[in-house]
Amino acid sequence: MKNIRPTDSVIGATVYNVSLAEMPSAATIDWLEVALERHGVLIFPKQHISPKQQIDFSAALGPLDPTELESARLDGFEEIFVVGNAGKGIVSFSPENEDQDLEWHTDHIHREVPARASLLYAKEVPDAGGDTLFACMYHAYDSLDNSDKQAYSKLKMIHSTAGLERYLVNQNLGNTDGAQREGEHAEIIRPLIRVHPVTGRKALYFGNQITVGVVGWEQTRADQFLFNLTKHACQPAFQYRHKWRVGDAVLWDNRRVLHAGTYYDVEHSRRLMHRTTLIETESP
Ligand code: OGA
Ligand code: MN
Repeated sequence: MKNIRPTDSVIGATVYNVSLAEMPSAATIDWLEVALERHGVLIFPKQHISPKQQIDFSAALGPLDPTELESARLDGFEEIFVVGNAGKGIVSFSPENEDQDLEWHTDHIHREVPARASLLYAKEVPDAGGDTLFACMYHAYDSLDNSDKQAYSKLKMIHSTAGLERYLVNQNLGNTDGAQREGEHAEIIRPLIRVHPVTGRKALYFGNQITVGVVGWEQTRADQFLFNLTKHACQPAFQYRHKWRVGDAVLWDNRRVLHAGTYYDVEHSRRLMHRTTLIETESP
C-alpha cells in the first residue's frame, strides 16, 4: 500500500510504495496531485527507472516541456534535461564555490509558459554536498506583515535569461548554446505575488538571479530589494533540504516552492540527474 510521511520541515513528504517504473492509475494520479498540493515537494526513494519510464510517468501527470537547451538534452529523449557534471550533464545548478550565492529559482519563470512541476531523478550523487534546498513560498508570503503584503501586491518583476546567463557564465556555459544566446535579452514581466490555481493561496514568485528588476524601479533599489526578499523568503525555517541518494526521485511544485542546488566538488566527484519538466496549462 502506498503511503506518505511528511518530513520534519514545513514542506516535503516521502512517498512509499509508488513505483515510477509503472504507469500510475487515475486514482494514484489524483492521490499524488493532492499530496503535491499539500506538501509542495514529494520524495520517491529507491526508484530504478529508465529515461523512457521517467518520461511516461511524468507525462501521465501532465504535458511535458521538451528540453530547449540542446546541450542538456539526453540523446534520443528530448524530454530529459541532464543536470550535473557527469555523462552529458554539463549544466549544473550548483554554485561553483562554497561562498557563492545560491541560485534560488523556480523553473522557467522567464518563459512564456513556465514549469508547473519538475521531477528530478538521481543517477549519481557526490559523497558530500550537492544537496537541493526547497523553500515554501506560501510561508514566505504568509509571514509578511500586512503593509508588505499590500505593497508587494503592486509589484511587477522582470525576469530575463540574461540573469540566468550571468550565473551560467560562471560555469563556462554561457555562450555555448545558440538557443540560450538567442533569448539572452528576452524579458518577461510577472506579478511578484501569484495565486496558486488549485489552492487559491498566495505565493511569492521570483528567483534571485533570473529576476533582474522591478518595473519602474532603479536598478540598485531593485537589486537591494531582491537580496532582502531572497533572505526573507528562503530563510531556513521555510526550507526542506534534500540529501540525495542514488535512486531518489523528487517532484516539486514550481508554483509554490523555490529551489536551489548547493555546492559540491565538481573536480573530484560526479553528480548526474535526469529532469523532466511539466508545463503550466495557463500563464500566471
Ligand atoms: C533543476 C535544478 C538543482 C539541483 O534541475 O531544475 O535546479 O540541485 N536542480 O540539481
Ligand atoms: Mn531548477
